[in-house]
Amino acid sequence: MSDTINKNRKLLLVDDEKNLLRVVSLNLAKRGFSVDTAISAEEALNFLSGGGYDVIICDLRLGGMSGIELLSKVKEDDEKGDKNTVFIVITAFGTIKQAVEAIKLGADDFISKPVDINSLVETIDLALRRKNHAKVDNTDNFEMQNGSGLNGNIFKDFIFKSPAMNKILNEVKLTSKSQSNVLITGETGTGKEVLAKVIHMLSGRNGEFVPINLSAIPEGLMESELFGFERGAFTGAVSGKKGKFETANGGTLFLDEIADMPLSMQVKLLRVIQDKEFSRIGSNDGIKLNAKIISATNIPLENAVIEKKFREDLFYRINVLHFKIPPLRERKEDIIPLANFFVKKYCAINKKNIGGISGSAINILKNYTFPGNIRELENIIERAVVVCTSDSIMPVHLPKTFTADSGREAETETEKFRHIDSAINLDGLEMELIKNALEKNNHNQTKTAASLGITRKRLITKIKKYNL
Ligand SMILES: Nc1ncnc2c1ncn2[C@@H]1O[C@H](COP(=O)(O)OP(=O)(O)OP(=O)(O)O)[C@@H](O)[C@H]1O
Ligand SMILES: [Mg+2]
Repeated sequence: MSDTINKNRKLLLVDDEKNLLRVVSLNLAKRGFSVDTAISAEEALNFLSGGGYDVIICDLRLGGMSGIELLSKVKEDDEKGDKNTVFIVITAFGTIKQAVEAIKLGADDFISKPVDINSLVETIDLALRRKNHAKVDNTDNFEMQNGSGLNGNIFKDFIFKSPAMNKILNEVKLTSKSQSNVLITGETGTGKEVLAKVIHMLSGRNGEFVPINLSAIPEGLMESELFGFERGAFTGAVSGKKGKFETANGGTLFLDEIADMPLSMQVKLLRVIQDKEFSRIGSNDGIKLNAKIISATNIPLENAVIEKKFREDLFYRINVLHFKIPPLRERKEDIIPLANFFVKKYCAINKKNIGGISGSAINILKNYTFPGNIRELENIIERAVVVCTSDSIMPVHLPKTFTADSGREAETETEKFRHIDSAINLDGLEMELIKNALEKNNHNQTKTAASLGITRKRLITKIKKYNL
């Protein structure tokens, strides 16, 4: 650990749990900090009047005056005295909302209980570095000052207009430098992976964004995929191989479809997260975990916990920060900006020149329920761009079922395309679209079906029909 930066740093630890004060202060002293402890915010104030601290670590829930109130006092003093105290908040499970509040009020970061000393020291180091850096160069404070200014490059391909998404993005920004694990939930196609990438980019980590889809990996291969292995670790391991944890070090590991992780692997993942260390199969050398962990699921993990299919302790570990992306039908303001974005995208790909979407087509899109969410909208627009011969997308370019309720699938596919210009070979077009959708979704039939707005059963029939 970088003890040099900590040498002689004055640190004040505030918590109403005596045990925590004792253990954490002892460990921080070992790392070179000069530590004082206070059992309440009131006592902390006494300490503060005696001299400045470089770092204050403070529990949010204290007996009398709260951690938030102490934070405001510290900020006030900082302004008067032109100081720059690092303020880190300790949260218990269930107080994440307050932690986000604290960050809005100027706290630098937060860590969750139980306090892990290594990650606490890393959090302090990072905050100190950022503060030192900020004195010289403030440029990496980018969008922070400007709540609505989400138009930086990072967001170029991330389209939203709804208050619901704006709220999520603001929270993502506020917590982007935090070391806490992130869980993203939402229906299929709502943009969980895209959001994970945005979080990775905002985190400022130099390493890679490494996605792994846990539903696509057989149980027997999962361990070696995640941990990697040494040469000779098992028959056939003629050379060593990095696992995803290792590849993601310095970057972000995206555990997609986390609910599909078998219980046997869940224990192992829990251990890695707790110890912040892992090793390759066949090796005893510990490798430090330095990857941000973002998990995603489209099934409610709480239910999986109740059904004992998902470990409760792991659930709390991966779920420190939770972003729930609403389905598209609950944020209709995003439909048209997204649709326009996809029109441009597919016009460029198909070398077409379409001005936009007609009012009547907009109406249809706004009133559709999008069971496959943004992925489905994207496919609808892609198809519309392909079949469109006029200068704007018209209702005839949209599958007819979109005017009806999404729950109904009574119409045949041929009826669905009834409006399309008769010069087009319907079967050929349908085959092309299904083929594209399959490729896009890595041949995952559930996702492909959702993206096309048809049932999986129907999709399978089509696959057989066209011999795909
Ligand atoms: N805000 C957005 N702006 C632009 N495109 C988006 C946005 N959100 C999602 N998309 C696009 O929609 C498609 C689906 O997004 P993504 O793969 O992130 O969804 P998901 O929630 O991970 O879905 P699944 O649960 O099926 O894995 C992608 O092609 C993605 O580029
Ligand atoms: Mg996904």
